[in-house]
Amino acid sequence: MARIRLFRTIDEMQSSSLQWKREGLRVGFVPTMGALHEGHLSLVDMVRPHCDRLVVSVFVNPTQFGPQEDFNRYPRDIDEDLRLLEEGQADAVFAPEIEEIYPKDYATYVEVERLSSVYEGAVRPGHFRGVCTIVAKLFNIVQPDVAAFGQKDAQQVAVLRRMTRDLHFPIQFLVGPTVRESDGLAMSSRNAYLTNEQRSKATVLFRALKAAEACILAGERNADKVREAMRYVFAEVPEFKPDYGDMVSPESFEQGTEMRGEVLLIVAGRIGPVRLIDNLPVSVEP
Ligand code: PAF
Repeated sequence: MARIRLFRTIDEMQSSSLQWKREGLRVGFVPTMGALHEGHLSLVDMVRPHCDRLVVSVFVNPTQFGPQEDFNRYPRDIDEDLRLLEEGQADAVFAPEIEEIYPKDYATYVEVERLSSVYEGAVRPGHFRGVCTIVAKLFNIVQPDVAAFGQKDAQQVAVLRRMTRDLHFPIQFLVGPTVRESDGLAMSSRNAYLTNEQRSKATVLFRALKAAEACILAGERNADKVREAMRYVFAEVPEFKPDYGDMVSPESFEQGTEMRGEVLLIVAGRIGPVRLIDNLPVSVEP
């Protein structure tokens, strides 16, 4: 097995990608903030058949964290990430220092309007501006033909899809399904912050989503009743402080009133200091 290559500078990464492309090779890309888990590795598996060279970025992006958020304590373990990616047969890892990406005089940001200011964007002002900025920069550095993102961050997927389209990046956009623990908790690097007791309460998010889905599948077509089903489940776990539990359009994140076609159930909130999000796409039969 060829050893994975580790690139630390923009120049090394970009020139390797451009060389691969000159050789007619297709470049696949999975952007991450490291602390890799099965969810990330499933994206690597998903992209591999679509490309000849597979790059994973590992960069905890400061511009997508608010001042009171967990940037400093976000889990970082590049050696373990490299080991997992070598096993997962990625070809290269791009893991730059912050100053490489954001030099002192850095001044350019990318923002998708409207979609970035609701739900996650309302609770975390500036978050999607940071996400779009770093992903646009990574697209320019890695020059991928195909890139994969996880459905776990459904609003991020909607925002980045729009950015990719609006800025004409010629990149095929793949979305991998949410990978869950056996009790339904969506895998996330932030789950590592949960104490054992908080961990056992954290299933409330998935249970609320499943309750709302069951309500729809049982024939309920009143959107308020579907939201009420989530609130009942939230109320069973007083330690959970919900930010929202809602039903939206998966593309626009506009609140759903019409129960037709594809809808997205979304939940978010805190257990102790740990903020968790989850979602479930549902097809509504007429
Ligand atoms: O989903 C993530 O891990 C991050 O938001 C991303 C896309 C790597 C940008 O920093």
